[in-house]
Amino acid sequence: MRSKLASSWFLGLAISVALAALFLRSSVKTPTQSKLWTPEELTMYNGTDDRLPILLGILGSVFDVTKGRTHYGPGGGYNHFAGRDASRAFISGNFTGDGLTDSLQGLSTSEMKSIVDWRAFYFRSYIFVGKLVGRYYNSQGNPTKYLKGVEAKAARGAQLLEKQKNEEAKLPTCNSRWSQEEGGEVWCDVGYPRLVQRPLEIALTGKMSRRCACFKEEELDQPGLEVYDGCERLSKTCPV
Ligand code: HEM
Repeated sequence: MRSKLASSWFLGLAISVALAALFLRSSVKTPTQSKLWTPEELTMYNGTDDRLPILLGILGSVFDVTKGRTHYGPGGGYNHFAGRDASRAFISGNFTGDGLTDSLQGLSTSEMKSIVDWRAFYFRSYIFVGKLVGRYYNSQGNPTKYLKGVEAKAARGAQLLEKQKNEEAKLPTCNSRWSQEEGGEVWCDVGYPRLVQRPLEIALTGKMSRRCACFKEEELDQPGLEVYDGCERLSKTCPV
């Protein structure tokens, strides 16, 4: 009787210890609750300790990307994104040294939009586990002026891109092909190829950019149209 009592007492103790261990382990292992993270804390979740989930920060939002271990774990092509907020690298593709920063200083409206799009990708594909205190969220978890500025610039970028798409749809784009042997050429099924400035490009990217569009003969004297070098005024095909 005594030994039966003792063994059930031991069994009870063993179960309690196991449950407590499980609870402690899971509370460390799966930070599913939304919380505030510090950059130092986040570093631990860079995939080197395979008992811990892999976390990634972008624009101060933190995601559990463990299911993408092949990309984000050790040896993965995107391991540098793990355990930190390297928002800038999503646009620069520079995954080394100074490239691994959350500063977006000097980026254009369209680049800001791309980074905000990446954040949306993580919201869609992974689990949001909280906010990183620093550049994008303050210690109360509220968005900083910096984040609001980035989001406003990205929204402007989205508007401009939409406008650019509509503008470009009004002017038919040239066909084009390129091969190593023959080089490149542009041609129009209807009309004549001309180089034109993309009107919203400066506002979008900070740089000038031109594209090929097709114009009817009566439109060819409009200002701002450039004939391709080595191409006749009424050639339908031009080398590039
Ligand atoms: C600015 C440069 C780049 C950035 C920031 C970037 C970022 C990423 C990220 C974060 C993922 C993982 C997405 C996920 O969680 O599922 C990914 C996947 C991928 N990237 Fe890139 N990438 C870049 C350039 C490239 C280039 C140049 C190539 C190819 C030449 C490439 C090929 C791929 C492929 C194939 C995948 C999917 C892999 C798979 O699902 O198995 N990336 N990229």
